[in-house]
Amino acid sequence: MRRRFEGQVIWITGASSGIGAALAEAFASEGARLVLSARRRAELEQVAARCSTEAFVLPLNLEEPETFPAHVEAALLRFGHIDVVVHNGGISQRSLAQETRLDVDRRIMDVNYFGAVALTKALLPSMVKRKAGHFVVVSSVMGKVGTPQRSAYAASKHALHGFFDCLRAEIADDGLFVTLVCPGYIQTDVSKNALTGDGSPKNEVGSDIAKGHPADLTARQILNAVSKKTSETYVGAFGKELLALLLKRFLPGVLEGLVRNAVPK
Ligand SMILES: NC(=O)c1ccc[n+]([C@@H]2O[C@H](COP(=O)([O-])OP(=O)(O)OC[C@H]3O[C@@H](n4cnc5c(N)ncnc54)[C@H](OP(=O)(O)O)[C@@H]3O)[C@@H](O)[C@H]2O)c1
Repeated sequence: MRRRFEGQVIWITGASSGIGAALAEAFASEGARLVLSARRRAELEQVAARCSTEAFVLPLNLEEPETFPAHVEAALLRFGHIDVVVHNGGISQRSLAQETRLDVDRRIMDVNYFGAVALTKALLPSMVKRKAGHFVVVSSVMGKVGTPQRSAYAASKHALHGFFDCLRAEIADDGLFVTLVCPGYIQTDVSKNALTGDGSPKNEVGSDIAKGHPADLTARQILNAVSKKTSETYVGAFGKELLALLLKRFLPGVLEGLVRNAVPK
Protein backbone atom coordinates (compact mmCIF):
# COMPACT_ATOMS: atom_id res chain seq x y z
CA MET A 1 0.00 0.00 0.00
CA ARG A 2 1.30 3.44 -0.95
CA ARG A 3 1.60 6.07 1.83
CA ARG A 4 1.31 9.24 -0.26
CA PHE A 5 -0.22 11.32 2.56
CA GLU A 6 2.01 10.21 5.45
CA GLY A 7 1.63 12.67 8.36
CA GLN A 8 -0.45 15.13 6.32
CA VAL A 9 -3.48 16.74 7.96
CA ILE A 10 -6.61 16.32 5.85
CA TRP A 11 -9.88 18.06 6.83
CA ILE A 12 -12.94 16.40 5.26
CA THR A 13 -16.45 17.88 5.42
CA GLY A 14 -19.41 15.56 4.91
CA ALA A 15 -17.29 12.85 6.53
CA SER A 16 -20.21 11.15 8.31
CA SER A 17 -21.33 9.10 5.28
CA GLY A 18 -20.91 8.24 1.61
CA ILE A 19 -17.97 9.68 -0.29
CA GLY A 20 -16.67 11.62 2.73
CA ALA A 21 -16.55 8.54 4.98
CA ALA A 22 -14.85 6.58 2.18
CA LEU A 23 -12.32 9.41 1.74
CA ALA A 24 -11.56 9.35 5.46
CA GLU A 25 -10.75 5.64 5.36
CA ALA A 26 -8.73 5.99 2.15
CA PHE A 27 -6.63 8.93 3.43
CA ALA A 28 -6.11 7.15 6.77
CA SER A 29 -4.86 4.04 4.98
CA GLU A 30 -2.19 6.21 3.35
CA GLY A 31 -0.93 7.69 6.61
CA ALA A 32 -2.89 10.94 6.84
CA ARG A 33 -4.18 12.47 10.07
CA LEU A 34 -7.80 13.62 9.87
CA VAL A 35 -10.23 16.31 10.87
CA LEU A 36 -13.72 14.87 10.34
CA SER A 37 -16.68 17.24 10.02
CA ALA A 38 -20.43 16.98 9.39
CA ARG A 39 -23.46 17.60 11.63
CA ARG A 40 -23.87 14.08 13.11
CA ARG A 41 -21.26 13.51 15.81
CA ALA A 42 -22.15 9.84 16.45
CA GLU A 43 -21.67 8.92 12.76
CA LEU A 44 -18.39 10.85 12.66
CA GLU A 45 -17.18 8.93 15.74
CA GLN A 46 -17.99 5.65 13.94
CA VAL A 47 -16.02 6.75 10.87
CA ALA A 48 -13.12 7.82 13.10
CA ALA A 49 -13.16 4.39 14.79
CA ARG A 50 -12.80 2.71 11.37
CA CYS A 51 -9.78 4.88 10.49
CA SER A 52 -6.43 3.55 11.59
CA THR A 53 -5.06 7.00 12.34
CA GLU A 54 -5.33 10.07 14.57
CA ALA A 55 -8.76 11.55 13.81
CA PHE A 56 -10.20 14.74 15.33
CA VAL A 57 -14.00 14.71 15.23
CA LEU A 58 -15.15 18.31 14.72
CA PRO A 59 -18.91 18.53 14.10
CA LEU A 60 -20.08 21.56 12.13
CA ASN A 61 -23.10 22.73 10.19
CA LEU A 62 -22.25 24.15 6.76
CA GLU A 63 -25.26 26.44 7.10
CA GLU A 64 -23.56 28.23 10.05
CA PRO A 65 -20.49 30.00 8.60
CA GLU A 66 -20.26 32.27 11.66
CA THR A 67 -19.00 29.22 13.59
CA PHE A 68 -16.15 28.47 11.16
CA PRO A 69 -13.41 30.73 12.59
CA ALA A 70 -13.73 28.93 15.94
CA HIS A 71 -13.69 25.52 14.20
CA VAL A 72 -10.55 26.50 12.26
CA GLU A 73 -8.93 27.65 15.50
CA ALA A 74 -9.77 24.30 17.13
CA ALA A 75 -8.33 22.33 14.19
CA LEU A 76 -5.15 24.44 14.12
CA LEU A 77 -4.78 24.06 17.90
CA ARG A 78 -4.97 20.29 17.49
CA PHE A 79 -2.65 19.84 14.48
CA GLY A 80 -0.83 23.16 13.94
CA HIS A 81 -1.77 23.34 10.27
CA ILE A 82 -4.07 21.87 7.60
CA ASP A 83 -2.49 20.42 4.43
CA VAL A 84 -5.67 19.57 2.52
CA VAL A 85 -9.31 20.51 3.02
CA VAL A 86 -11.87 18.43 1.13
CA HIS A 87 -15.09 20.39 0.65
CA ASN A 88 -17.32 17.37 0.28
CA GLY A 89 -20.39 18.02 2.48
CA GLY A 90 -23.49 18.66 0.39
CA ILE A 91 -27.14 18.02 -0.33
CA SER A 92 -28.87 17.25 -3.60
CA GLN A 93 -32.34 18.03 -4.95
CA ARG A 94 -35.29 16.17 -6.46
CA SER A 95 -37.82 18.82 -7.52
CA LEU A 96 -38.83 20.98 -10.48
CA ALA A 97 -37.68 24.63 -10.26
CA GLN A 98 -41.30 25.80 -10.41
CA GLU A 99 -42.22 23.62 -7.42
CA THR A 100 -39.17 24.46 -5.29
CA ARG A 101 -39.60 27.05 -2.56
CA LEU A 102 -37.00 29.82 -2.70
CA ASP A 103 -35.84 29.02 0.84
CA VAL A 104 -34.97 25.51 -0.40
CA ASP A 105 -32.90 26.98 -3.28
CA ARG A 106 -31.12 29.16 -0.71
CA ARG A 107 -30.51 26.23 1.64
CA ILE A 108 -28.88 24.18 -1.12
CA MET A 109 -26.68 27.17 -2.03
CA ASP A 110 -25.82 27.73 1.64
CA VAL A 111 -24.70 24.15 2.22
CA ASN A 112 -23.06 23.35 -1.12
CA TYR A 113 -21.60 26.72 -2.12
CA PHE A 114 -21.40 29.26 0.72
CA GLY A 115 -20.33 26.57 3.20
CA ALA A 116 -17.26 25.75 1.09
CA VAL A 117 -16.55 29.41 0.36
CA ALA A 118 -16.79 30.46 4.02
CA LEU A 119 -14.63 27.59 5.29
CA THR A 120 -12.06 28.40 2.59
CA LYS A 121 -11.93 32.05 3.69
CA ALA A 122 -11.50 31.00 7.31
CA LEU A 123 -8.60 28.68 6.38
CA LEU A 124 -6.83 30.83 3.79
CA PRO A 125 -4.81 33.10 6.12
CA SER A 126 -3.07 30.17 7.84
CA MET A 127 -2.37 28.47 4.49
CA VAL A 128 -1.07 31.62 2.79
CA LYS A 129 1.17 32.28 5.82
CA ARG A 130 2.57 28.76 5.60
CA LYS A 131 2.75 28.87 1.77
CA ALA A 132 1.14 25.43 1.61
CA GLY A 133 -2.38 24.14 1.28
CA HIS A 134 -4.70 22.34 -1.09
CA PHE A 135 -8.45 22.90 -1.55
CA VAL A 136 -10.26 19.84 -2.92
CA VAL A 137 -13.81 20.60 -3.98
CA VAL A 138 -16.34 17.82 -4.57
CA SER A 139 -18.53 19.23 -7.31
CA SER A 140 -20.52 16.95 -9.65
CA VAL A 141 -21.15 16.18 -13.29
CA MET A 142 -24.08 18.52 -12.51
CA GLY A 143 -21.43 21.23 -12.06
CA LYS A 144 -20.97 20.99 -15.84
CA VAL A 145 -24.44 20.15 -17.17
CA GLY A 146 -28.01 20.88 -16.05
CA THR A 147 -30.87 18.39 -16.04
CA PRO A 148 -34.49 18.49 -14.84
CA GLN A 149 -35.14 18.50 -11.06
CA ARG A 150 -31.64 19.67 -10.17
CA SER A 151 -31.86 23.46 -10.75
CA ALA A 152 -30.58 24.60 -7.33
CA TYR A 153 -28.15 21.70 -7.01
CA ALA A 154 -26.63 22.24 -10.47
CA ALA A 155 -26.46 26.00 -9.78
CA SER A 156 -24.58 25.42 -6.52
CA LYS A 157 -22.09 23.09 -8.19
CA HIS A 158 -21.59 25.39 -11.21
CA ALA A 159 -20.94 28.23 -8.73
CA LEU A 160 -18.18 26.21 -7.06
CA HIS A 161 -16.34 26.00 -10.41
CA GLY A 162 -16.52 29.78 -10.85
CA PHE A 163 -15.28 30.58 -7.35
CA PHE A 164 -12.52 27.98 -7.16
CA ASP A 165 -11.23 28.56 -10.72
CA CYS A 166 -10.73 32.22 -9.76
CA LEU A 167 -9.19 31.30 -6.40
CA ARG A 168 -6.78 28.84 -8.06
CA ALA A 169 -5.34 31.68 -10.11
CA GLU A 170 -5.16 34.02 -7.10
CA ILE A 171 -3.30 31.62 -4.80
CA ALA A 172 -0.96 29.83 -7.23
CA ASP A 173 1.95 32.13 -6.41
CA ASP A 174 1.46 31.34 -2.71
CA GLY A 175 2.06 27.66 -3.45
CA LEU A 176 -1.59 26.73 -2.87
CA PHE A 177 -3.66 24.39 -5.09
CA VAL A 178 -7.28 23.74 -6.05
CA THR A 179 -8.65 20.42 -7.31
CA LEU A 180 -12.24 20.31 -8.55
CA VAL A 181 -13.71 16.80 -8.56
CA CYS A 182 -16.83 15.96 -10.62
CA PRO A 183 -18.36 12.61 -9.61
CA GLY A 184 -20.95 10.81 -11.70
CA TYR A 185 -23.49 8.54 -9.96
CA ILE A 186 -21.96 7.17 -6.76
CA GLN A 187 -23.62 4.65 -4.39
CA THR A 188 -24.35 6.78 -1.31
CA ASP A 189 -27.33 8.21 0.59
CA VAL A 190 -27.30 11.32 -1.63
CA SER A 191 -30.70 10.66 -3.22
CA LYS A 192 -32.32 9.72 0.12
CA ASN A 193 -31.05 12.97 1.65
CA ALA A 194 -31.92 15.09 -1.42
CA LEU A 195 -34.42 17.89 -0.79
CA THR A 196 -37.82 18.04 -2.44
CA GLY A 197 -39.60 21.30 -3.26
CA ASP A 198 -40.85 21.91 0.29
CA GLY A 199 -37.46 21.12 1.86
CA SER A 200 -38.31 17.62 3.08
CA PRO A 201 -35.92 14.80 2.17
CA LYS A 202 -36.79 12.55 -0.78
CA ASN A 203 -36.10 9.43 1.31
CA GLU A 204 -35.75 7.15 -1.73
CA VAL A 205 -32.70 5.56 -3.29
CA GLY A 206 -32.69 6.59 -6.96
CA SER A 207 -32.04 3.81 -9.48
CA ASP A 208 -29.09 5.70 -11.05
CA ILE A 209 -27.49 5.97 -7.60
CA ALA A 210 -28.23 2.32 -6.72
CA LYS A 211 -26.39 1.25 -9.90
CA GLY A 212 -23.64 3.83 -9.41
CA HIS A 213 -19.91 3.59 -8.80
CA PRO A 214 -18.88 2.32 -5.30
CA ALA A 215 -17.86 5.06 -2.87
CA ASP A 216 -14.58 3.37 -1.88
CA LEU A 217 -13.38 3.21 -5.51
CA THR A 218 -14.46 6.81 -5.99
CA ALA A 219 -12.40 7.81 -2.94
CA ARG A 220 -9.33 6.08 -4.42
CA GLN A 221 -9.76 8.02 -7.68
CA ILE A 222 -10.01 11.26 -5.69
CA LEU A 223 -6.82 10.46 -3.76
CA ASN A 224 -5.01 9.92 -7.07
CA ALA A 225 -6.15 13.34 -8.30
CA VAL A 226 -5.15 15.01 -5.01
CA SER A 227 -1.71 13.41 -5.00
CA LYS A 228 -1.11 14.61 -8.58
CA LYS A 229 -2.54 18.07 -7.79
CA THR A 230 -4.86 17.71 -10.79
CA SER A 231 -6.84 20.92 -11.41
CA GLU A 232 -10.09 19.22 -12.42
CA THR A 233 -11.14 15.59 -12.73
CA TYR A 234 -14.14 13.32 -13.32
CA VAL A 235 -14.63 10.28 -11.11
CA GLY A 236 -17.15 7.46 -11.44
CA ALA A 237 -18.58 9.10 -14.57
CA PHE A 238 -19.50 6.44 -17.10
CA GLY A 239 -22.45 5.74 -19.42
CA LYS A 240 -24.88 8.61 -19.69
CA GLU A 241 -22.86 10.96 -17.46
CA LEU A 242 -19.85 10.59 -19.76
CA LEU A 243 -22.06 10.98 -22.84
CA ALA A 244 -23.58 14.16 -21.39
CA LEU A 245 -20.13 15.65 -20.75
CA LEU A 246 -18.95 14.86 -24.29
CA LEU A 247 -22.14 16.23 -25.85
CA LYS A 248 -21.96 19.39 -23.72
CA ARG A 249 -18.46 20.00 -25.04
CA PHE A 250 -18.92 19.07 -28.70
CA LEU A 251 -22.69 18.94 -29.49
CA PRO A 252 -24.51 21.10 -26.92
CA GLY A 253 -27.68 21.28 -29.04
CA VAL A 254 -28.01 17.48 -29.03
CA LEU A 255 -27.56 17.40 -25.24
CA GLU A 256 -30.24 20.06 -24.83
CA GLY A 257 -32.74 17.88 -26.70
CA LEU A 258 -31.83 14.76 -24.74
CA VAL A 259 -32.02 16.27 -21.24
CA ARG A 260 -35.48 17.70 -21.96
CA ASN A 261 -36.82 14.16 -21.75
CA ALA A 262 -34.41 12.80 -19.17
CA VAL A 263 -34.98 12.91 -15.43
CA PRO A 264 -31.94 11.42 -13.67
CA LYS A 265 -33.06 9.09 -10.89
N1 LIG B 1 -23.46 10.31 -4.72
C1 LIG B 1 -23.42 10.88 -5.90
O1 LIG B 1 -23.91 10.31 -6.90
C2 LIG B 1 -22.76 12.22 -6.06
C3 LIG B 1 -22.53 12.67 -7.36
C4 LIG B 1 -21.93 13.89 -7.56
C5 LIG B 1 -21.54 14.65 -6.47
N2 LIG B 1 -21.78 14.20 -5.21
C6 LIG B 1 -21.37 15.04 -4.09
O2 LIG B 1 -20.63 14.30 -3.17
C7 LIG B 1 -20.69 14.93 -1.90
C8 LIG B 1 -20.93 13.88 -0.84
O3 LIG B 1 -22.24 13.33 -1.02
P1 LIG B 1 -22.56 11.78 -0.86
O4 LIG B 1 -22.90 11.28 -2.19
O5 LIG B 1 -21.52 11.11 -0.08
O6 LIG B 1 -23.95 11.86 -0.06
P2 LIG B 1 -24.31 11.63 1.49
O7 LIG B 1 -24.01 10.25 1.88
O8 LIG B 1 -25.70 12.15 1.63
O9 LIG B 1 -23.28 12.56 2.24
C9 LIG B 1 -23.49 13.94 2.40
C10 LIG B 1 -22.61 14.44 3.51
O10 LIG B 1 -22.80 15.86 3.64
C11 LIG B 1 -23.06 16.17 5.02
N3 LIG B 1 -23.93 17.33 5.13
C12 LIG B 1 -25.15 17.52 4.57
N4 LIG B 1 -25.66 18.69 4.97
C13 LIG B 1 -24.75 19.25 5.82
C14 LIG B 1 -24.69 20.45 6.57
N5 LIG B 1 -25.70 21.34 6.58
N6 LIG B 1 -23.59 20.69 7.32
C15 LIG B 1 -22.58 19.82 7.35
N7 LIG B 1 -22.54 18.67 6.67
C16 LIG B 1 -23.63 18.39 5.91
C17 LIG B 1 -23.73 14.91 5.57
O11 LIG B 1 -23.50 14.80 6.97
P3 LIG B 1 -24.54 15.16 8.14
O12 LIG B 1 -25.90 14.73 7.69
O13 LIG B 1 -24.00 14.37 9.30
O14 LIG B 1 -24.40 16.63 8.34
C18 LIG B 1 -22.96 13.81 4.86
O15 LIG B 1 -21.77 13.51 5.55
C19 LIG B 1 -21.78 16.00 -2.02
O16 LIG B 1 -21.20 17.27 -2.17
C20 LIG B 1 -22.52 15.61 -3.28
O17 LIG B 1 -23.12 16.71 -3.92
C21 LIG B 1 -22.38 13.00 -4.99
